[in-house]
Amino acid sequence: MNTPFPDRDRIDAHAKVRGATTYAADAPFPGLLYAMTVPSPVTKGTLTALDTEDAAAIPGVVRILTAEDFAHAVPNGTHMGAPPPTLETAIAYRGQPLALVVAETLEIAIEAAEAVRPVIEEEPFSALFSSPGAVREPAEASHVGDTEAAFAEAETVIEAEYVSPTQHHNPMELTSTTAVWADGQLTIYEGSQNSAAMRSAVASLLGLDPAIVDAKSPTAGGAFGQKGWAQRQTAIVAHAAMLIGRPVKLVMPRAQVFHVATHRPHIVHRIRLGADASGRMVAIDHDAAQQNSRQGPFPPHYHEAAMRLYDIPNYNGTAMDVRTDVSNPAHMRAPYEHPAIFAMESAIDELAVALDRDPVAFRMAHDGTVDPYTGQPYSSRFLNECFTEGAARFGWERRTPAPGSMTAADGTQIGWGVSAGVYPALVHPAIATLRITADGRTRFAVAGHEFGQGIRTVLANVLLRELDIREDRLDIPIGDTTAARQHLTAGSWGSFSAAPAALAAAERMRAALAELLDGREIGGTIHQQLATIKRPFLEVEVTQLGPGQDAATLEQWQNYNFAVTGPAYPGFTAMSYIAHFVEVRVEPRTRRVRVPRVVSIADCGRVLSPRTAQSQVRGGVIWGIGHALREATETDPRYGGYLNCDIADYVVAVNADIGEIEVGFIDRPDPLANALGAKGLGEVAMVGVSAAVGNAVFHATGRRIRELPIRIEHLL
Ligand code: MOS
Repeated sequence: MNTPFPDRDRIDAHAKVRGATTYAADAPFPGLLYAMTVPSPVTKGTLTALDTEDAAAIPGVVRILTAEDFAHAVPNGTHMGAPPPTLETAIAYRGQPLALVVAETLEIAIEAAEAVRPVIEEEPFSALFSSPGAVREPAEASHVGDTEAAFAEAETVIEAEYVSPTQHHNPMELTSTTAVWADGQLTIYEGSQNSAAMRSAVASLLGLDPAIVDAKSPTAGGAFGQKGWAQRQTAIVAHAAMLIGRPVKLVMPRAQVFHVATHRPHIVHRIRLGADASGRMVAIDHDAAQQNSRQGPFPPHYHEAAMRLYDIPNYNGTAMDVRTDVSNPAHMRAPYEHPAIFAMESAIDELAVALDRDPVAFRMAHDGTVDPYTGQPYSSRFLNECFTEGAARFGWERRTPAPGSMTAADGTQIGWGVSAGVYPALVHPAIATLRITADGRTRFAVAGHEFGQGIRTVLANVLLRELDIREDRLDIPIGDTTAARQHLTAGSWGSFSAAPAALAAAERMRAALAELLDGREIGGTIHQQLATIKRPFLEVEVTQLGPGQDAATLEQWQNYNFAVTGPAYPGFTAMSYIAHFVEVRVEPRTRRVRVPRVVSIADCGRVLSPRTAQSQVRGGVIWGIGHALREATETDPRYGGYLNCDIADYVVAVNADIGEIEVGFIDRPDPLANALGAKGLGEVAMVGVSAAVGNAVFHATGRRIRELPIRIEHLL
């Protein structure tokens, strides 16, 4: 049965809007203590002394943890998948936690943290991409074909540099950890995309048996990469709870989130794009240089999606880290694809203009069926269908091609721009249990995390289509290491990984029930059938593997908490696609840019939950508009660290910035990805939005802005 899914309400919507949903920092515990970190006031140096005397004398202070409390911890210094660093005396960036104050109240913790006096031997630092002392370190390259030969033959070549700034995630839920050490069991509550890593990182860092560590993140208030691994404070708070023997909670203030949590790095993309005499794109040189920290493990993998955007046979992708004294960059929604495709789709637009071609037709002429990198066919690719549908809904045929040729009566310049987005379709294995009880309950436990994207609704939609069970008593525990073996939820692989497991579990359940009934015909729901035959419950377990995954993948998952494959699978490559059509209006005197309407059409295979899929795309488009026109973290070149560390100064898109966003789906199942035909959606939604905005700004004004965010001063 592979028909479209119904537009079911978000199953967690009512709890969320009523404030009933419990986030990590909401969990009440008797005897709870409050923690606050002491951030480093300098960017680089060595902590030679830490005067805690005044702080410790404040009534209500329970303990002050310092680097000495972590002398036996075993960080490996890199973070991301590895255990995070703890409290250390080596200072790598401004805002790094130097101590953790634990007190009876939050107010006392704050007061005492401010009374701690660090003594620091300062060292010179490099805060910016362009600072002296920034070390340029070449990274892995990706090549397809022979770009040199292709450029030698190319007739039209454009070359340009595209810059995107440092940006910070600002989930509504602040970064926080609550740790409870009781009865020989350590339980960590944290808004996370990765309860598995919370557990294993803390266990290995503190030298604990993972069996005595549980991690719980049933719901996170936004994440999208920032909460993908154990956080900077996770093990520090856990250690505090174990040392003191009482529950400890730390909620990072927003400003500290900017310093301590990960961010999207400043990136410079250099693109050279060549077309042959027939106007066909034949070669790309793509160099991506990202600002990294000195030791940060986030690799500059900007080519995986960019090379698969269109059918261009020669691609030379180079990359480098520019090592500086900042906190670690890491994943932020479409971490590689969003900035890389901004550069690529801006360059393609420039080439289309140079060749006097319609930007949509030009792109559609470069569709392909074969992955240039592997030579394998794509499992499915309906990008041109996205363009066709989007152009029709947007009214693209009414566009006049000359820049500045479309103006409103008051002189407002109108621009229409387009861009595609692509994102790899990735999957991890899942081990899921499904239990249905005679008294009306259903429980489906699987690896997955909910941080707003709607994974529970996706799983409910599959289960409720497949099984006659009660919707109102359906419980889907995820993000909980005590419920099922967990895995990082990111990379848009949540639905691809968990939903096929729900389908397989439902099928197994039907088979188990049939076996139990042994030919008897009993009416009613599965609950009623179980009640009739006097079985209190029926439970099945399934192990669901992605294409090409096997026992070795399961073992890898067990040992490293990470077992993702794709987009290249045995015999095919799977990607998700989107086409964005954007209208901008540039006010003639102030040069203010507005985005009154967007049409975005996605190909994510079968849409499993129309409601949450639409929301995913709307959210991605809004964030893309924010990236294109608003968001940038300013680095302080004098003292290091970040300057605009709150959401008053770090400007994100708000309601007034957003007009109409029309979302559509091709909704054709991918025949090879999985039995549901579903691919990922969350990240591809955002890919290409900022290029479409930039291309629209060019069409409105004739100004090609190659640096994000596009600001009024660029258009004066
Ligand atoms: Mo996403 S940036 O892979 O959480």
